[in-house]
Amino acid sequence: MIRLTDFREILRYVPGFRGRLFVIAIDGEIIEHPNFSNILLDIALLHNLNIGVAIVHGASHQIRCLASQLGQQISNDNGTGLTDSATIDLALKAANGITHQVLTGLASVGLPAVCPNAVLAHPAGILKGIDMQFTGRVERIDVRSLRQIIDQRSIPVLPPLGFDGRSQTYRLNSDRLAVEIASELDAIKIVYVTMRDGVRKSNELVRHLTVAESRELLKSDGNVSKEMSAKLEAACQACSRGVSRVHIINGRSEEGLLAEVFSNEGVGTLIYDDEYEVIRPATLNDMPIIHTLIHQAAENDEVVFITREYLEEQIGNFFVVEIDRNPVACAALYPFKESAQAELASVVVGIGHEDYGIGRRLISHLENTARARGFKELFCLSTQAFTYFQQKAGFVDATVDDLPEPRRIELSKSGRNSRVLKKSLH
Ligand SMILES: CC(C)(COP(=O)(O)OP(=O)(O)OC[C@H]1O[C@@H](n2cnc3c(N)ncnc32)[C@H](O)[C@@H]1OP(=O)(O)O)[C@@H](O)C(=O)NCCC(=O)NCCS
Repeated sequence: MIRLTDFREILRYVPGFRGRLFVIAIDGEIIEHPNFSNILLDIALLHNLNIGVAIVHGASHQIRCLASQLGQQISNDNGTGLTDSATIDLALKAANGITHQVLTGLASVGLPAVCPNAVLAHPAGILKGIDMQFTGRVERIDVRSLRQIIDQRSIPVLPPLGFDGRSQTYRLNSDRLAVEIASELDAIKIVYVTMRDGVRKSNELVRHLTVAESRELLKSDGNVSKEMSAKLEAACQACSRGVSRVHIINGRSEEGLLAEVFSNEGVGTLIYDDEYEVIRPATLNDMPIIHTLIHQAAENDEVVFITREYLEEQIGNFFVVEIDRNPVACAALYPFKESAQAELASVVVGIGHEDYGIGRRLISHLENTARARGFKELFCLSTQAFTYFQQKAGFVDATVDDLPEPRRIELSKSGRNSRVLKKSLH
């Protein structure tokens, strides 16, 4: 059953996305998967929320299947290598079949869609001495015709093919085509819908990566699968061309698309332009998410539980870390002016976002804020993260005598027996 809180979470994001465009790049294999019908429903929801959608689809899987059915050899399946004349013929058949499947699927959920000839291409040419034959390179995107389709509340469906305006069609790589479409149409994000959960590093799913982190990962040989490396490279390129958020999700997961785009925790990997991590003062709009973050940590007795009323009263002392406009961590900075001290409290990094340095950056930001406001010392109380504050944030042990008097009294009443830590701001 859908919970009311799920609706609330979705609605929180809608104003930022309304009237903007998502490019959804779907691997060919997903289109044949039973979960494709759920992806179509998710796209219908985006459409009904007035979020524009353009679909780019792949065809490698179908090209391979068709070749094996016909007993033919192919020169390359994904549009990155040489495409000979037999392979372009198969690519045309396979891609047209998939486009038709996508158009039929969209019709079945009541969505108008068209397949325009909006991608103009020329031959990729001779690369490292090899003639790439029918492998193409995007020359130009017909932005005007795509805009018209989207403005008429229809969905353009783009196969990984480009036309030269005369009689030749070229095979394109769908990951790269998605980047071209998204950057030309000023899309807010690309969502790669794949057969994998996202980017894995040493077999662990990586939830989010800045462009700089992605480039580091790409340099470290063998750490990421070939398929995901290609997506990561496309993602970095998209970010450098102004599409600041790229998601890689598993299209086989039932709630994949909506959960990634509309939930705080996400399900796949988000690659984002570095500037999309922002630390800012909290506002009343952030109250529900701050309350949830603190509630989760308080259940494990890691932080003190606070009521909504208290949070509302103190919201001016809170800060949040946003990734992709999505608050993922919070902390508070309470002033004790008489003793020129400030307390760092309620430091919580959301589930799925830990161990990316967010806690450290948040603490360092609050430290600088406290310094700029003229405080001489920062202190914090911790039951379970005192080694974190010592080892990762430069705090040292202190005693209750180091606390400002009102805090000393509160601590002894609370019975939490927290460790006291401090850091000089000189
Ligand atoms: C503690 C917390 C804020 C750390 O945030 P984070 O963004 O995950 O941490 P960072 O990425 O900056 O640092 C990660 C490092 O800290 C270590 N670390 C994380 N939590 C720790 C803890 N409770 N104690 C000691 N070390 C910890 C990690 O093992 C990692 O170590 P490494 O860099 O050597 O691999 C986060 O785990 C959290 O929200 N915990 C629950 C709430 C809490 O305890 N808050 C503090 C009380 S106010």
